[in-house]
Amino acid sequence: MNLDVIVSLCKRRGFIFQSSEIYGGIASCWDYGPLGVELKNNVKRVWWRDNVYLRPDVVGLDAAILMHPSVWKASGHLDHFTDPMVDCRACRRRFRADKLDETSWVHYCPATKDNKFDIPAGEPCTHCGARRTLCPACGKGELTPPRQFNLMFKTFMGPVEEDAAVTYLRPETAQGIFVNFDNVLQSMRLKLPFGIAQIGKSFRNEITPGNFIFRTHEFEQMEIEYFVNPNDVIDGRPADEVWHERWIEERFAWYQRYGIRRARLRLREHDKEELAHYAKRTADVEYEFPMGWSELEGIANRTDFDLKQHAKTSGKALTYFDEERKTHVVPYAIEPSAGADRSVLAFLVDAYREEEVRGEKRVLLRLHADLAPIKIAVLPLLKKRDEIVARAREIQGRLARRWVSVYDDTAAIGRLYRRQDEVGTPYCVTVDVQTVGDRERGETGDAKVTIRERDSMDQIRVPVAELETVFRELLTDGIPWSTVGARYPATTKS
Ligand code: GAP
Repeated sequence: MNLDVIVSLCKRRGFIFQSSEIYGGIASCWDYGPLGVELKNNVKRVWWRDNVYLRPDVVGLDAAILMHPSVWKASGHLDHFTDPMVDCRACRRRFRADKLDETSWVHYCPATKDNKFDIPAGEPCTHCGARRTLCPACGKGELTPPRQFNLMFKTFMGPVEEDAAVTYLRPETAQGIFVNFDNVLQSMRLKLPFGIAQIGKSFRNEITPGNFIFRTHEFEQMEIEYFVNPNDVIDGRPADEVWHERWIEERFAWYQRYGIRRARLRLREHDKEELAHYAKRTADVEYEFPMGWSELEGIANRTDFDLKQHAKTSGKALTYFDEERKTHVVPYAIEPSAGADRSVLAFLVDAYREEEVRGEKRVLLRLHADLAPIKIAVLPLLKKRDEIVARAREIQGRLARRWVSVYDDTAAIGRLYRRQDEVGTPYCVTVDVQTVGDRERGETGDAKVTIRERDSMDQIRVPVAELETVFRELLTDGIPWSTVGARYPATTKS
């Protein structure tokens, strides 16, 4: 599948828009529209629920984006958070030196009277055999020698733009956790092992952002620092290594729990050369995005590096008193670090399906019900019948108190179903003549509605009075459709 299909659906259906679009846009910045904000909030909500509310050993935090500049000296970001970059002397475009051969390149081939060719990444010209040496974008300019470029966005605090006022937009949420280690430990009276979780914005002046919301300048991270006593042993093995493996397993399973297909996920170990300066071991959860296998989340064993660095730089002890051994220890940190935006992209890509139904194309997002932006759409079969419209609006108003739901009467029923399929709404409720009856003919209604399930397109007839119970079972208690639906008579699919 091409990523453009997802980009186009996101714009058309109000998930994601280009930032500042009316001014021509700004590179690699994206705005979440009405459905996108729901989807992203749902991703963050289930992450928080699973990692904070459902774990007795993890607590939450929301630290400031702007931090004391010494934080970034201590963490190593000022000195090490750099990418080697080269500039084209002709078109002035900037590239990551280490990624130059990962993009296609423009070539004016001398063997074909300087005809222009677009050559796939890393390949030579099939006419003259030349390999890329010049700018891959314009094909003409010489590239400068590589220079190190710090990825942190610099800004100034206060009214004077001087060196003393320099601060940075955080490039990761993790450091807010490390500098609050002692505050959280003391205020919550925690015992090792325990974790601190945080969701928030991070900023990186990426040299080569792109691939929609995969790599952007401004993004949200969902990070946990899980602190472990390095002197502990579990089943004869160092506790930090055991906990690292447990977190890798847990995080790998998490994406599948919310619908991502196992075949599109893999774990990749960082080799020695790739390991960050703070890490003992790192494994990435990778997803097969349309542009290839890429990192979705990194799970690192950061050892005691960060706490020690902050203790040294700030002069404040960041230790834990081990009651059993009567000694102060600096805990090791296991860090599952996920991107909220990158997760949104993976969930969207994985959920996207095109099917043929009775000779017509049906596009649907098979999103997990917990992630779907809209849970229930209430639709009147005939919008010209006042009783039907009034009943549908009344039902939607009632359901909206518990679940995100919409009312829509702007098209015929078949089209309304397709529209909801395309944005991943798991259930539609249809109010029809049978529901309300026909006063002119002296017919009373049966006070039942049709519920249609998105993936199977199965339909059942349910008393209006039981709707809340049915949706509580389906949406809150997670009881499968096959179980709940079996209690009610089926009607024809549409
Ligand atoms: N604290 C560790 C850390 O920040 P990272 O591998 O640089 O590690 C973790 O980032 C996750 O944050 C990535 O796996 C990705 O999901 C997300 N992320 C990082 N840079 C990003 C960017 N420029 N745009 C979108 N998401 C990004």
